[in-house]
Parts: sequence; C-alpha cells; structure tokens
Amino acid sequence: MLHVLESQQFSKEVLYKLFKKAEELREKSSDLLKGKILATLFYEPSTRTRLSFESAMLKLGGKIISTENAKEFSSAIKGESLRDTIKVISSYADCIVIRHYEDGAAKEASESSKVPIINGGDGKGQHPTQGLLDIYTIYRELGRLDNLKVAIVGDLKNGRTARSLSYLLAKFEGIEVVFISPENLKMEDDIKEYLERKNVKFSEGGELNKVISEVDVIYMTRIQKERISNDDYIKANGKFVINEENFHLIKSGARLMHPLPHVEEISLSKETEENDERVAYFRQSENGLYVRMALLDMILNGEN
Ligand code: CP
Repeated sequence: MLHVLESQQFSKEVLYKLFKKAEELREKSSDLLKGKILATLFYEPSTRTRLSFESAMLKLGGKIISTENAKEFSSAIKGESLRDTIKVISSYADCIVIRHYEDGAAKEASESSKVPIINGGDGKGQHPTQGLLDIYTIYRELGRLDNLKVAIVGDLKNGRTARSLSYLLAKFEGIEVVFISPENLKMEDDIKEYLERKNVKFSEGGELNKVISEVDVIYMTRIQKERISNDDYIKANGKFVINEENFHLIKSGARLMHPLPHVEEISLSKETEENDERVAYFRQSENGLYVRMALLDMILNGEN
C-alpha cells in the first residue's frame, strides 16, 4: 500500500512517470477509477487541494465522500481520536486525502488506515502533492529540471509547500536555491541540512530585486498569518513583494510561481497576470488537477 506522506519519497523515475501520465490525462481522461471511492478529510480550509482531488476522482469515473471542516463537522468535535476516525473512514473509502493542522498527522493517520493516505498538508510539515504539482509545473514551463536557479521567498519557517518543493528540487542536478524570508521566518535547519547532504548549493538572504533578475523560478509564498503571533506577522508582512514596480526585473523566460492563495506578496494588474507568460501560478494550480489524477491512478491502480 502506498501512502503519500512526504515529497522526498518520490524517485526521479516515479516523478517522470507521473508527469507522463498527467500529460496523457490532460489530453483525455477515462474511467480508470470507476467503482473507487475517495474520502477527503480536511481539518483546515482549502480551495485547490480538496477540490482538485475531488475533481480528479470524478473525472476518472470515481466517487467522493467529503468533510470540508472536519474539525467541527466530523466527530472530532465530540472528542474522537484521529486514529479512530481513520479506522472508520478507511472502511468506507479506497483512499483518504487528509489535511490537518498538526505536523505529522498524515503519518499518524497512515498508521491506523486500511487504505492509502495522501497528505494534503500537515501543519508546518509538508504538502507533498503541492510539491509534485510545483515540480511538474517547472518541468512543463521550462522544459527541464536540471541546472536551475530557484528563489523561494516568504514565510519559509511555516510554509509547508516550500519544504516539500525543496526536497524535490534536491533530486536534480545543478540546482541552486536562494531562500529569501523575513528574519523571523527563516527556513528550518532540517531542510538546509538535507540540501547540504544532497550537495545542493543554497544561500539565504539577499536583495529581492537583485535575486529576481537572476533566477529561473521565483516561488513566492504567503506569510502564514494563522500559524504565527501578531507580532511576528507585523514584522514579516510586506517585506517581500512582487508588484508592477519590480515585476519587469524578472528575466524573460523565467517564471513566477505561487502555491496560492496569494495575498499582498503578489500585487500585479489583471493585464500582467493574464498576458505575461512569466506569470505561471494559475497554470500551476490547473496542473494540480492532472498531477492528482495521475497520482490517484498510480495509487489505486497499483502502479507504484
Ligand atoms: N496550495 C494550496 O494548498 O491551496 P489550498 O489551501 O487552497 O488547498
């Protein structure tokens, strides 16, 4: 049984298989998951992850059961443990996507599940399927995953998408990562140590406007207001912004990405968002649908 708990569990070979399947399914979907049921169990808000997983399942002929506010609308409110909840749901569904506010919750869920668990984001931990759609987007947009310079910007201490992407980038050759964050929200040491072990060149800090003129990918992230104190938010908010004043500094051929939702850290006109090919974040969220279709097929049809 394949649980999807952290992005580093994917080999390069599996990533390329997933991309190939995603391309096939983009062209033509089919009833690959007819008769299967996906449960989406979300203890934190979501637009993209939950709805794209549900759409992916429906497009592949499967069915869904769902609770979008499991913290209040599941029996968690009555005190049921995650372990018991998962034991029960895994009798009703063939696969469970869980989003939870605690780091490690998806792993804990996998320990009592009879069916595959997909981590749809666990606290400050990881968001591996976001990592998959991010790396797929880079591949699709730039045509390669080797020899890239990538800036990862924003709340890197609490941003699980930045962590999952870092693990995946480390699988490729000639990668250089520049972490830019407010002083109080720097990337955690475990990721930096991982990059060191994998011989990935990285640096921290630097002037945003200089860095965006040098890199192939700018991966912006939101300050995770809901996970930090008001003091930390005030210190960090508005420090690093892409707007009409500095957008033109981005190299032609480079891409501006964001896991979304974005707030003040990206402030571009509708014209720029719609017409400048360097703005990749809406294509990125669309790619999530095809990657999740491919992933569900891989998990539920046994090719892991
Ligand atoms: N990127 C992402 O996880 O978006 P949602 O929170 O809307 O699912």
